[in-house]
Amino acid sequence: MSRKVISGSAAGGVDTGKQLLSVVDLKTHFLTERGTVLAVDGVSLNLERGKTLGVVGESGSGKTILARSIMGLLPKRNVVREGHVYYEGTDIIGHSQNEMRSVWGSEMAMVFQDPMTSLNPVMKVGNQITESLVHHLSMDKSEAKATALALLQSVGIPEPQQRLGEYPHQLSGGMRQRVTIAIALACGPKILFADEPTTALDVTVQAQILNLLGRQQSERHMAMILVTHDLGVVAGRTDDIAVMYAGKIVEQAPTNVLFSKMKMPYTEALVSSIPKLDNPSHTVLEIIPGRPPDLVHPPKGCNFAPRCKYVQDKCLEEEPPLAQAETPGHFYRCWFPVGTPEGRDALGRNLAAAAATSTLGSTPASTTTTLTAAAAATKET
Ligand SMILES: Nc1ncnc2c1ncn2[C@@H]1O[C@H](COP(=O)(O)OP(=O)(O)OP(=O)(O)O)[C@@H](O)[C@H]1O
Ligand code: SF4
Ligand SMILES: [Mg+2]
Repeated sequence: MSRKVISGSAAGGVDTGKQLLSVVDLKTHFLTERGTVLAVDGVSLNLERGKTLGVVGESGSGKTILARSIMGLLPKRNVVREGHVYYEGTDIIGHSQNEMRSVWGSEMAMVFQDPMTSLNPVMKVGNQITESLVHHLSMDKSEAKATALALLQSVGIPEPQQRLGEYPHQLSGGMRQRVTIAIALACGPKILFADEPTTALDVTVQAQILNLLGRQQSERHMAMILVTHDLGVVAGRTDDIAVMYAGKIVEQAPTNVLFSKMKMPYTEALVSSIPKLDNPSHTVLEIIPGRPPDLVHPPKGCNFAPRCKYVQDKCLEEEPPLAQAETPGHFYRCWFPVGTPEGRDALGRNLAAAAATSTLGSTPASTTTTLTAAAAATKET
């Protein structure tokens, strides 16, 4: 298979003029007693105005730190942040906290997973919204109050007038998340980061909040980065999806392409773990064997190798570079991609080796992890 390798790690190239946001080779490393945690390790992505990008990956893959690093919302100490974050063509990576204050809220805003941690428990809901309107948009008090009321209405809060005078603990979880969305939208940001905005909520409320975010995003022609561990959440709600593994984007594609022509075994495994309506009852969903790597001592070669059912010796030695697939905007990092002759051969070899092992009760020379992963993968769903 001919593979077009992308130089550096800028998926799609850098076009700081056209893009609202261009992240280039962003690294965010934490210096800990155990060593350096490579939380975000050379991420590049582009986001156009009005588009939604889903960022998906298992727990610990670096999704939150990526979003926080783009926004410059990181701990002050023991962090190394390198690379470029072009916002409307200006690199904001070196901006001070003071400079970033004019960006937060009015240009970029964030909705966090747990509304209780982002709301002030001892401040009335109304004041929490009017505060940023007064600060960023220089509104007077009555203007800010009228806007806060309109915002609560727009995010579907019943009896908004009464809610303005209430404290967060007086609201349900879903209502609290609607309030945090209203606060995030207050100053009309051009990019909204939504970091697992629904995982703390029950299933029916989850759908309402995701629909609300989608509606607000299209009405305001706002760009959105929707962070989640659940590929099912982003399936019908995003233009593009970036799949993260161990601090890197391992596959990125337009949403329909990612689902129909995925190249990464990791993406394939994530897709297999989504419950489907047409699954027979009691279907056991595929789980990805093993655990994500230690980000202080990542394995040599491909980070996914110890868990990959396609793994070959080359994967254990050489890290796959970013390569471009046939479809524009589709990038991946894999030596034996899903759906290619190389991938099919690799999987076939591993399945045959696993079958031979279970028959003979011995382990051939190849990696034991290959067999474990392949054997686990053959347990039909
Ligand atoms: N302040 C910190 N110091 C050291 N390591 C950190 C710090 N914050 C995050 N990390 C590590 O960085 C990695 C990425 O964390 P991150 O929170 O971005 O993961 P995530 O993909 O958002 O996971 P989740 O789905 O659980 O929210 C993890 O290994 C985490 O332990
Ligand atoms: S086939 Fe190899 S390169 Fe591709 S994901 Fe698996 S281990 Fe990584
Ligand atoms: Mg997170």
